[in-house]
Amino acid sequence: MTVSVRVPAKVNVQLAVGAARPDGFHDLANVFLAVGLYDEVTVSASGGGLRVTCSGADAGQVPLDRTNLAARAAEALASRYGLVPDVHIHIAKDIPVAGGMAGGSADGAGALVACDALWGTGASRDELLDICAELGSDVPFSLVGGAALGVGRGEQLRTLEVGGAFHWVFAMAERGLSTPAVFREFDRLSAGVRVPEPVASQELIEALAKGDASALAGAVSNDLQPAALSLFPELAETLSVGRGAGALATLVSGSGPTTAFLAENAEAAEHVAEVLLASGSCRAARVTEGPASGATVL
Ligand code: C5P
Repeated sequence: MTVSVRVPAKVNVQLAVGAARPDGFHDLANVFLAVGLYDEVTVSASGGGLRVTCSGADAGQVPLDRTNLAARAAEALASRYGLVPDVHIHIAKDIPVAGGMAGGSADGAGALVACDALWGTGASRDELLDICAELGSDVPFSLVGGAALGVGRGEQLRTLEVGGAFHWVFAMAERGLSTPAVFREFDRLSAGVRVPEPVASQELIEALAKGDASALAGAVSNDLQPAALSLFPELAETLSVGRGAGALATLVSGSGPTTAFLAENAEAAEHVAEVLLASGSCRAARVTEGPASGATVL
């Protein structure tokens, strides 16, 4: 028996970051929107041991050892139910690696849902969400999808209403960025400054609820953007090209380096993608929509 699960990428339409906490994490007001770029995680009995394989253009950058969140998810579920994780996990990867789009988190959530179905553990949604939160701050959102406000370190979710589809372009960068390194750069840039408590934007939440792209464009923000640009200055050019091509809003996705462009409609999104590609300021440009569904068994 094999089980395949499709899991979406995300963009943070708001990422408000507070000061570093004693545990090193940062309190966030993190508005996630799942978008239609997906990884597919397929699990089957391995006949002995846990094995991870990966396919796709970026497969060479994906760790296949126990640091892979998909492997950790399978181990966490097995240990909770007293099982041995004899499973082969295959990741068909389409979400950029180290891109700020929660690709690793998606694989963690996907493997968890897939192993739950394969092993018939029958874990409740709350149990799965608990395991997700232990695996990483963005993993619970990969499970639920849609749109949500994440507080705490981003793992405590409140589902948000979305009144329509938003059109996006994502520009993939030539190299990745490490999320901890971007948070460290945020700390360095904000040293000596009083960092305000992160607060979710009501205006942004209303724009999502109305499905109003112009209003959303006026409300998006990412407090990690200056840190990502500081570590990867070439991204400023990519953002500027997208703005020049008519994007309603431009921002770094999460901790980057993928850049996100909100467009008025599908046609405008195609145009932004063409201009970005032709400019040579990114490795690839993908057009998609959000919101997308969370982890789904196929
Ligand atoms: O939770 P996760 O393992 O995905 O986080 C990766 C890293 O990102 C953490 O080790 C930490 O450096 C940083 N982080 C943070 N504050 C958050 C979430 C992540 O500082 N709320």
